Amino acid sequence: MKRLVNTFTFPADFVWGVATSAFQIEGAAAADGKGQSIWDDFCKIPGAIADHSNGDIACDHYHRLEPDLDLIASLGVDAYRFSVSWPRICPQGTGSWNESGMAFYEKLVDGLLSRGIQPYLTLNHWDLPAALQAKGGWANRDTVQHFVDYGLQVAKHLGDRVTSITTHNEPWVMATLGHQTGEFAPGVKSRKVAMQVSHHLLLSHGLTLQALRAQGTRSQLGIVLNLAPVVPATDSPADQALARLKDGKLVRWYMDSLFKQHYPQDVLDFLGSDAPVMQDNDLQAIATPMDFLGINYYSRKVESADNSWQVQDGGLDCTDMGWEIYPEGITELLLRLQRDYRLPPVYVTENGAAFKDVLFNGKVHDSQRIDFIARHIEAIGIALQAGVDIRGFMLWSLLDNFEWASGYEKRFGIIHVDYKSQQRTLKDSALWYRDYLLGVRDRRNQKRRA
Ligand code: FCB
Repeated sequence: MKRLVNTFTFPADFVWGVATSAFQIEGAAAADGKGQSIWDDFCKIPGAIADHSNGDIACDHYHRLEPDLDLIASLGVDAYRFSVSWPRICPQGTGSWNESGMAFYEKLVDGLLSRGIQPYLTLNHWDLPAALQAKGGWANRDTVQHFVDYGLQVAKHLGDRVTSITTHNEPWVMATLGHQTGEFAPGVKSRKVAMQVSHHLLLSHGLTLQALRAQGTRSQLGIVLNLAPVVPATDSPADQALARLKDGKLVRWYMDSLFKQHYPQDVLDFLGSDAPVMQDNDLQAIATPMDFLGINYYSRKVESADNSWQVQDGGLDCTDMGWEIYPEGITELLLRLQRDYRLPPVYVTENGAAFKDVLFNGKVHDSQRIDFIARHIEAIGIALQAGVDIRGFMLWSLLDNFEWASGYEKRFGIIHVDYKSQQRTLKDSALWYRDYLLGVRDRRNQKRRA
């Protein structure tokens, strides 16, 4: 299937990229003095990971940095979004720094720059040092200051070369899936703890921004949220009330605190004594102005009070994760955020899909993924033309990788990874993205000449 997207929808300086995260691709779980993360520990819990796998080797990216950088460059992207593993550069989460861990990220950043690719760095993509979890992890307010110190250290080494620094990736996921449902590391199951964790994540975000600015960091600073339109399955009052509450927990909890300096009252009322303990000025710190907002979008959320709504499982309308394919949702979401908040420049920092790919004769014909990506890019273009200040798009993901509790069974990459041989194969979607970016380049050149 040939999908063409009109590159003219997007300004010439729109940033096109691919994204990954440390734990999902690096492997080298104990190499060169790296400490353990909560995901290393979580993978040891029987039944926690669908295929009983772990991140020990993953895509072995740590040992294949140069060829992987060449692969990224071969796509013709402007930017690469990656995360730093906190326990790799600070094994205990606080105290002594591991220079050889830092050297890896120095090589990564320099390798990107020498290939003309802008580095977009994330400080926390979920892999908290296990040593800090032993002291309560994100539920312990002390972790906030440890995170600020970690951010300062990273920025001291790399802040002169990375285009942007994201504090946290998807605090809702860390708080809710990590501490309320327990599906993700560290596997805690307490709503009260989850809400405290979300508050500490947000607070550490704001304080890190302040500390980095005070240190003179030149990179653009922001956070990445997983957001979605949350809609009722029917017009029934029960469904509507549920959708409003879930919107409060997923969207307004984060957006209101970051941009309006308060938590939504309906959610606080609902939480009652599970609401987080706060100190004076916490909310002020959380609302420290940002240079950009990153949004990860995969699907919308449909709420039904009697659980009667289901995506057609295995049907054409959902991905291998069982997530409904709903490109219009990103347009709806962006327009709603634009209406309700004073947004800084926005980046779509993740979007992509898992499908059951088949590698045959050195090819992966993943036309469903191409269709998914093209439709989402188009939907972003519509929001852009309606006036939302969207500056970039980062495709999830560069490589097939460790998809958290789903292990290696779910493949999100535009590049196929054979985990036994570590052979990388560009799927049709990678070739499609490369061709699309060639078109973007042509247009930039024409503009330059004109
Ligand atoms: C997001 C995560 C990312 C990846 C995608 C599929 O929630 O940020 O690491 O797992 O989902």
